[in-house]
Amino acid sequence: MGLGCGNPQAIAALKSGEVVLDLGSGGGFDCFLAAKQVGDQGKVIGVDMTPEMISKARLNAAKGGFTNTEFRLGEIENLPIPNETVNVIISNCVINLSPNKPQVFKEAYRVLNSGGRLAISDIVTTAAELPTEIKNNIEDMYSGCISGASSITELETMLKQSGFIDISIEPKDESKEFIKDWVPGANIDKYIVSAVIKARKQ
Ligand SMILES: C[S@@+](CC[C@H](N)C(=O)[O-])C[C@H]1O[C@@H](n2cnc3c(N)ncnc32)[C@H](O)[C@@H]1O
Repeated sequence: MGLGCGNPQAIAALKSGEVVLDLGSGGGFDCFLAAKQVGDQGKVIGVDMTPEMISKARLNAAKGGFTNTEFRLGEIENLPIPNETVNVIISNCVINLSPNKPQVFKEAYRVLNSGGRLAISDIVTTAAELPTEIKNNIEDMYSGCISGASSITELETMLKQSGFIDISIEPKDESKEFIKDWVPGANIDKYIVSAVIKARKQ
């Protein structure tokens, strides 16, 4: 629960009645925060590829009495969501894990309504290449987040190629405080940072 690197629902400026999609929803933490903001007229759909996480999120929704959340098993590269049915896509520290990020953004664009938006927290690289000693020293739960991350320029290109406009990618220097604890002593905060990624479909 809460294995993220930011607070996407806080940056998404969600409004009552909106339909929100969370990519890689895990135990549902961000979905529940979003569900409170969109209210009973709105809806939050979480997609995760792990059956255990979907079960956990459904259980958490029942425990919390949430009636406006739904959790679907699926991959963010092949979303189980119809075309143009979502107002806002949020995601917390998941897209960096995907080996096919252009496909993730293509799918995000497909499911968004015209005027829909992305508001994502994710890890980006700040150095061209991770030093080998760090690459070889990250056999823990955060290894995918670190080794799979793209640079701001790469992400901008992928978003543009998918059709997004009004793209902004803002690194959050304060995230270095918790990132450095992911692999103590390895100085990984010199190479990666959490960023707020926003974009819009025309
Ligand atoms: C770092 S956790 C973040 C979970 C949640 N967003 C949070 O902040 O607590 C990553 C989650 O993304 C899911 N995930 C990773 N790659 C995925 C993919 N390609 N498609 C769907 N889910 C994916 C994992 O199963 C896991 O639940």
